[in-house]
Amino acid sequence: MAPKETRWGILATGGIAETFTKDLLIDPATRNVQNVKHAVVAAASSSSLSRAQEFLKSVGAPASAKPYGSYEELVKDDNIDIIYVATPHSHHYQNVMLCLEAGKNVLCEKAFTVNAAQAKKLVETARQKNLFLMEAVWTRYFPLSIYVREAITSGKLGTVIRVSADNSFGVIPEETFDTGHRMVNPDLAGGILLDTGIYSLTWVFQTLYLTQDPKTRKPPHVLSSMQKYPVTGADELTTILLTFPRDPQEGGDMHATATGGFRTSNDIDGKGTAGPAVRIQGTKGEMQVWAPIFRPTRTRLILKDGTTDDKNWPQPGPGQGSGWYNGFGAKKNAEGEGHGMFWEADEAATALLEGRKEGKYKSLDESVLIMEVMDEVRKQNGLTYPEKIETTERITL
Ligand SMILES: NC(=O)c1ccc[n+]([C@@H]2O[C@H](COP(=O)([O-])OP(=O)(O)OC[C@H]3O[C@@H](n4cnc5c(N)ncnc54)[C@H](OP(=O)(O)O)[C@@H]3O)[C@@H](O)[C@H]2O)c1
Repeated sequence: MAPKETRWGILATGGIAETFTKDLLIDPATRNVQNVKHAVVAAASSSSLSRAQEFLKSVGAPASAKPYGSYEELVKDDNIDIIYVATPHSHHYQNVMLCLEAGKNVLCEKAFTVNAAQAKKLVETARQKNLFLMEAVWTRYFPLSIYVREAITSGKLGTVIRVSADNSFGVIPEETFDTGHRMVNPDLAGGILLDTGIYSLTWVFQTLYLTQDPKTRKPPHVLSSMQKYPVTGADELTTILLTFPRDPQEGGDMHATATGGFRTSNDIDGKGTAGPAVRIQGTKGEMQVWAPIFRPTRTRLILKDGTTDDKNWPQPGPGQGSGWYNGFGAKKNAEGEGHGMFWEADEAATALLEGRKEGKYKSLDESVLIMEVMDEVRKQNGLTYPEKIETTERITL
């Protein structure tokens, strides 16, 4: 059967919108995906029409792709099947609601919203309108993540007892970010928890929660500690201890640490010497995943029986000679290599094809639960954001 085309509209023109859109334009056949293909039919910038035009040109979108100078115009375009929302997380609630109200399916960047109340409202609206909605936690859709989860569900690691996951930056924030930057600006919900902590929580939840029986799994108990960035008051060092209840017959409670920091590093010498950033420890063995944990390409399986299995998971892409650097921020990927955001795009397109309304490896209920965990961490540490970005009222930001 010929692959079914999904027509994408891109809402926002920043760093990750560029990386995602470039990935969308890579032929899925290059990664052995045969059921779906993607078309970029429009993009919108909140600042100007010319910015949207520049964006479409810079990603190499076809000339037929339509630029818009406002998000309001984009959501009215009848040629769009799904909108990818790539604004700062402070804006996700208002922007996703705009799309849903216009009857559009949505793939929304992480963190899903600023708080759980906003996440619940979006989920409720999507369900009422029978629309597809998914949080873009791309890492869960990587073949590497599927392999790690299978090592757990197959029993290879024995009874899994503990997971640690760290996603740290290794920068001096005073030198790296100006005070308005979305990483440290409270008006844009900046800080470690919502930006990088979500990935540590992703690894904890996809190994200790997603792998459990949905009928019996329970939310974790949460304890946490946080240090604030003196310049803006955003969180710069956040440590979360999670206890997942489990029946004593099945091994009892599971423990996890999800950590992140600006000044700490997962890869201090840039050579992987610091060791794995994720460790999943069971009674028969351990799975290790190397940083960066949002885009990992290296695993090590160590079993008690003496087995050690090192694997590399390079991201497929358009191939050498494409003249196309695809990456994010200062670090670009190798020439011809995709970024890995296409796996989540394939999943969204497959869900539309199959009539599913949420992602296979992160349900909307789990997105809400993780927002509840982050709410609890903020409550324990007195971290608040301006009311205008916490509200569930419909306002213009
Ligand atoms: N999956 C990943 O690995 C990954 C990586 C980085 C970021 N992200 C997530 O993606 C989102 C965007 O991050 P980014 O790094 O792409 O940010 P960015 O480079 O700052 O881009 C954000 C874009 O949002 C739009 N925007 C609308 N209102 C804005 C406002 N008040 N302030 C700033 N920008 C505004 C702007 O585009 P227009 O106004 O032109 O539309 C801007 O270019 C965040 O939620 C972040 O957590 C995900």
